[in-house]
Amino acid sequence: MIKIKRIFCFGLISAAMVAVSCGKTVPAEQSIDIVPLPASVTAANGKFMLKAATPVVQTFGDERMAYAVNFWSGVTEELFGRAAETVYAEAPQKSAINIMQDESLAEEQYRLKVGASGIEIAAKGPEGVFYAFQTLRQMLPAAAFAGDGARIEIPACEINDKPYFAYRGFMFDMGRHIFSVDEVKDMLDILAMHKINKFHWHLTEDQGWRIEIKKYPRLTEVGSIRKSSPTGRNQGQDGKPYGGFFTQDEVRDIVQYAAERFITVIPEIEIPGHSVAALAAYPALGCTGEQYEVATWWGVDERVICPGKEGSFTFLEDVLTEVMDLFPSEYIHIGGDECPKTMWKKCPDCQKRIRKEGLKNEAELQAYVTKRVEKFLNDHGRKIIGWDEILEGGVTQSATVMAWRGPSYGIQAAKLGNHVIMSPNSNCYLDYYQTRDVENEPLAIGGYLPLETTYALDPYNQLNDEERKFILGVQGNLWTEYIDNYEYAQYMTLPRLSAIAEVGWSYDRKDYDSFLKRMNHITQLFNHYGYNYCKHAFGTADADNNVQTK
Ligand code: ACM
Ligand code: ZN
Repeated sequence: MIKIKRIFCFGLISAAMVAVSCGKTVPAEQSIDIVPLPASVTAANGKFMLKAATPVVQTFGDERMAYAVNFWSGVTEELFGRAAETVYAEAPQKSAINIMQDESLAEEQYRLKVGASGIEIAAKGPEGVFYAFQTLRQMLPAAAFAGDGARIEIPACEINDKPYFAYRGFMFDMGRHIFSVDEVKDMLDILAMHKINKFHWHLTEDQGWRIEIKKYPRLTEVGSIRKSSPTGRNQGQDGKPYGGFFTQDEVRDIVQYAAERFITVIPEIEIPGHSVAALAAYPALGCTGEQYEVATWWGVDERVICPGKEGSFTFLEDVLTEVMDLFPSEYIHIGGDECPKTMWKKCPDCQKRIRKEGLKNEAELQAYVTKRVEKFLNDHGRKIIGWDEILEGGVTQSATVMAWRGPSYGIQAAKLGNHVIMSPNSNCYLDYYQTRDVENEPLAIGGYLPLETTYALDPYNQLNDEERKFILGVQGNLWTEYIDNYEYAQYMTLPRLSAIAEVGWSYDRKDYDSFLKRMNHITQLFNHYGYNYCKHAFGTADADNNVQTK
């Protein structure tokens, strides 16, 4: 409707007259409310009038700068029905958004100056420019997104901003339920809005293998489909086949989409546990060689990859070779969590490996697997992340530990001198209930993790200055046993992702009351984009929170 109206205007009168005769001025809002909180915001007098004709003047930049500028073009299309013009120039121009280089700034840092005569974004490179544009979008009055303004007021100010932690992540589990390419991209947009820079993509599980591997077609032919899924809280079976996977072309498309938002996709291939789907496809990978079916129950499964057999390592190296081709990420996540040792204890091949390698027990056998896979990845220029169980049986110094069972595992790893990503279930498990009133919520895995608790995460707790250096950052995890549709995935993610983002970006300045107040603005953006978010923390009626689930 908006577009039709605009075409009508342009069709009848000159573009110069449009602003005067069929557009209005959208006034600036009272305060500058940005999530995550910038390092400093200094309000000034006056306003910049953003118009359809406001160009972006690029005084420097490579092809990746186009990603940042394209983002802003998308915003201006929403505001005015057309993309901002981009001009390449040596010097800044008046009444424009000028992108300037400041080599003294850090990679993700930016300075955003808004004045009556123009806007200046200073950054070292495109990352900072992209984050400045994200901030600028949040500075727009919410009413601007109605799309009928000819002039949009942006309050004069100077913002100096940079992230506290280098790693600000979100994990999305595709194993229990899979989401479409468009839904994954939509989630990447949500991450970008929050200046989250790592997308940890959980691609393999007992209940489904979700990535095409050319050398092992049965991983997807067999391993991507389970014949039934649990109902209720893992009580019954629905008897309906469920499946899906991402082709390598789709993976490349998503990796590129993320790169255009300055998000690195970190794939996770679960090793050696949570692998029943792989074993169903290739039974020789298991200790007994038995033919299994793709798992149809949630939980921890005893059927895991057999490290006694050389063929298991050939398989893992082949799979990881294709994974490395698809994902340029420095890190590959190799899982490592919840690997029962029951089968290994009874397996002659596993016991032989233990003896041959001089290992003490099955915990050391898992460490042997982790180290061998890590060496393979290191030899190819990559690093590993593993869930905190990789600490058991001995861990190399070069492995990064993702603490999930509690902050204590991250503390233990940091004290050992390992890099750590804090994503403890006590604060970061986005599949937990957000209210105690669970009767009126869609079925969730359990737990109780309100927004305030997520926000309260202190990744540095109990660490001295030296140990703090090993904390790379934080991550929110969305496991999807109980999340079978994207609307529900958004509901569980938002607004807790906003809290994770603020811990990650604004750790040294975070303040829950200020955060709640600033959420008033970003939730208007959520509304504009149709994101489904939980409103309990904002004191809204429960009825608003209902989402469809199976
Ligand atoms: C996990 O939640 N098993 C990492
Ligand atoms: Zn075995």
